[in-house]
Amino acid sequence: MGKKTLRPLTKPIAGDVEVPGDKSISHRAVMLGAMAKGTTKVTNFLNGEDCLHTISAFRALGVSIEQKGTDLTIESNGLSTLQEPKLPLYFGNSGTTARLMLGLLAGLPFQTVIYGDPFLTERPMTRVLTPIRKMGAMIEGRQDGRLLPLSIKGQQLSGINYTLPVKSAQVKSAILLAGLLADGETTVIEPTQTRDHTENMLKAFGVDLKLQKNEITIKGRQKLQATTIHVPGDMSSAAFLIAAAAIVPQSQLTLKNAALNKTRIGIIDELKQMNVNYSISNQQTVNQEDFGDLTIANGEMKSTVLSGKIIPRLIEEIPIIALLATQAEGTTIIKDAEELRVKETDRIHAVVDVLTSLGATIEETEDGMIVHGKTPITGCEIRSYSDHRIAMMGIIASLIANEPVTIDEIDSIDVSYPSFFEDLQRIIGDNK
Ligand code: S3P
Repeated sequence: MGKKTLRPLTKPIAGDVEVPGDKSISHRAVMLGAMAKGTTKVTNFLNGEDCLHTISAFRALGVSIEQKGTDLTIESNGLSTLQEPKLPLYFGNSGTTARLMLGLLAGLPFQTVIYGDPFLTERPMTRVLTPIRKMGAMIEGRQDGRLLPLSIKGQQLSGINYTLPVKSAQVKSAILLAGLLADGETTVIEPTQTRDHTENMLKAFGVDLKLQKNEITIKGRQKLQATTIHVPGDMSSAAFLIAAAAIVPQSQLTLKNAALNKTRIGIIDELKQMNVNYSISNQQTVNQEDFGDLTIANGEMKSTVLSGKIIPRLIEEIPIIALLATQAEGTTIIKDAEELRVKETDRIHAVVDVLTSLGATIEETEDGMIVHGKTPITGCEIRSYSDHRIAMMGIIASLIANEPVTIDEIDSIDVSYPSFFEDLQRIIGDNK
């Protein structure tokens, strides 16, 4: 696994860049395209390792998926195309593939075994198993199925009414996919709203969904019709370049065609609270997903308190927001973010450890962190915990460090943002 050393930046960031397609939307486009009758075309698909595992899984289930660059053509006859795979399905590092596929495989008439890399193997699956077992799913694994590998014996499921005990779009989506195959109606109640890409995309594939306040109801046994999906740029990837422009003196940067789904742009609300200068232009909506161009400029930033309903809207961005907080005047408090403990790694611990090494004054709390700004970034060697978002946070920090920063295991970045270094190079140019 590669190490990389980056020198501090000696000039402002400028220009524009289009980040690759959204990871969550790319996964769902393959899943729903594989379940739909007809030919589904996907454009701007994310070629990150996580999404490629979703493609491999559906190919192993018998679906024809042709890929040319970031364009996909998915051919399926609907659910009858999905057949028992000959080998166990490998999902690598991808929690979204594992959790959503559990909902789907639980309701298909065959047996499957699923497994992942050592990091995915540590991540809790009970949060999905509890509701889908109530629907009739038969799933076995170590510790009553808490951990991968899992063996799924597909069953005819029945609808349920379920209030999510965790703020998780993956759990919500697994239940909705199981609900689509089940007898009767399934209702998911979300005390705090999480990303709604599954709901948006189900509608794009012609599925009838009832959305009422915080309740989503889906009638079982509906058929999906193939469609065309354009994947907008991933705001969670864009966030690293946004942060770079916000902290490097005199920078200005435009992110083109970035996803602006309201359940995902807590980072923009946060930039506003921090006094960062930004503007949005060229807004469009395709398949119920908003996107547009976002321009950010460097300036003085102030501290904020992040808690409650905004957390799921920026959960992925908390590592990079913590770095921004080190450059903001005052004390930033992040709480209600306990979900970070069960991401690709324990991200509360990893962020605090890495930023402490980089000279920040930061405290770990049970459900978040407290950052005292503003502190200079000191060059050193840091661990990325093999987590793509921690590695990218370290790399962005290096731009304003006093000495070079070395980050280990940067290959993990391929999980979500394989063109990260090219995009970064484009906006920093020659760094002499
Ligand atoms: C995702 C939901 C989030 C997010 C993950 C992708 C999704 O996870 O962290 O990277 O595509 O539904 P949780 O549902 O566990 O919050």
